[in-house]
Amino acid sequence: QQATEQWRPYFHFSPAQNWTNDPNGLVYHEGEWHIFYQHNPFENKWGHMSWGHAVSKDLVNWEHLPVAIPEDSAWIFSGGVVVDKNNTSGFGANSMIAIYTADYHGKKENQQLAYSTDKGRTWTKYKNNPIIAKPLPNGKEMKDFRDPNMFWHEPSKQWIMVVALPTEFKVHIYGSKNLINWTFLSEFGKQGDFTKIWECPSLIELPVEGSQTSKWVLFISSSNPNPDFVGMQYFVGNFDGKTFTNDNPADTKLFVDYGKDFYAAIPFSNAPKKTILGWMASWQYTDALPTFPWKGQMSIPREISLKKTQAGLRLIQRPAEEVLKAKNWKGIVQMEEMGIEEDNSMMWRNQTSSYMIDVEFELGGAREVGVKVMKNLTTNQETLVGYQKDSEQLYINRINSGKIISPNFASMDASPLKLERGTVRLLIFVDQSSIEVFGNDGEAVVTSLIFPENNSANWQLFSRDGRVKVTKLKVWEWQKD
Ligand code: FRU
Repeated sequence: QQATEQWRPYFHFSPAQNWTNDPNGLVYHEGEWHIFYQHNPFENKWGHMSWGHAVSKDLVNWEHLPVAIPEDSAWIFSGGVVVDKNNTSGFGANSMIAIYTADYHGKKENQQLAYSTDKGRTWTKYKNNPIIAKPLPNGKEMKDFRDPNMFWHEPSKQWIMVVALPTEFKVHIYGSKNLINWTFLSEFGKQGDFTKIWECPSLIELPVEGSQTSKWVLFISSSNPNPDFVGMQYFVGNFDGKTFTNDNPADTKLFVDYGKDFYAAIPFSNAPKKTILGWMASWQYTDALPTFPWKGQMSIPREISLKKTQAGLRLIQRPAEEVLKAKNWKGIVQMEEMGIEEDNSMMWRNQTSSYMIDVEFELGGAREVGVKVMKNLTTNQETLVGYQKDSEQLYINRINSGKIISPNFASMDASPLKLERGTVRLLIFVDQSSIEVFGNDGEAVVTSLIFPENNSANWQLFSRDGRVKVTKLKVWEWQKD
């Protein structure tokens, strides 16, 4: 098989080689951001699940480290890492504690612990694993019980863990004083969307912008707004140290990202800011990912908060400050107040296929605006990132984006988004084989993989049915170190 380095992202994390799916154990510790990740150390496909590892000082440049937690008689499935500052566990002050699911090849799943006292460089599996199992009346153990995620809850002075019962569409919440002995506290489930199994839960307290208040958000990886695909949903509510209560009616469905390629995101624990990062792919076509010798990549780290809207509190996601301020960005276009019309807007050619476009449109009479990115003049391939006024939707259209890796890959994926005073802002990240677009100020996000067949560094603004004012346009290219 040929190497396909033309699709390797410049500013998104990808493993040096072989497979990844979920990010695991995201944690900030002594100046380093850690990504552990579901990894097959031996092959470029899912299997032999272990925790791969990388660290970064700036959320942009990642240093690959050896496999942190290898498979044993079980595969090491997803989980979380916390920093045990006060040595509640007895493994050492400031030790890093990983709790992951041991998956016995589909026969049973239970939660196990490993610790590190050298900033995550080496890990020791706890000798009395598992720490949590669910025995069944027939003497066996529960088969689908996975993806623990933990944090310290100061008001109740205990560690809290959320863990999924995927096929029951439930999350179980546990408490512990020492990260080893856990007490069952409560159950949450069968609310929101349960067309697809529930995986990778996490619970986090988020500030409500423009207020002194905060709310708890429960993230679940489950269905996409398009129920044929996996995606992520969230619930907004309260957590009292025991129970999570949903503020919204049980049938309210809130989605994190409206693209097909954002899954299994969890927050960084112990971090100076509320930040999540997800796997950029979909289980519906992961096998078909055409990259070699690596498969799978992570999203941009996203800073998250809540904002009051007419419909209620909604998640806000913005690209991490570090990514926006990275020294690798070289400004190539900066303009204000420019008019464009359907087909006579000019086209730009970049040096690379990794770029960031920050554009604001005042729609006037036009019904659709946007940017054609990854445009190749020979193959005519292009991806449309746009806004439709009538349907009030932000979208990515990858139908003609390049290689169609599976029959259900070619699609247009759209998120609801309202115009603000007649304008819409698109912050678009193009990175070789992915597009993430943030609408307005982080109110809507659509994430899509693309596999253009040739280098496609051109881009072009467009509008339909009317003249449009571009009130701001800034473009940067990513220059490799
Ligand atoms: C989510 C998931 C998790 C599991 C892991 C296995 O993508 O299915 O539930 O722990 O992947 O690799």
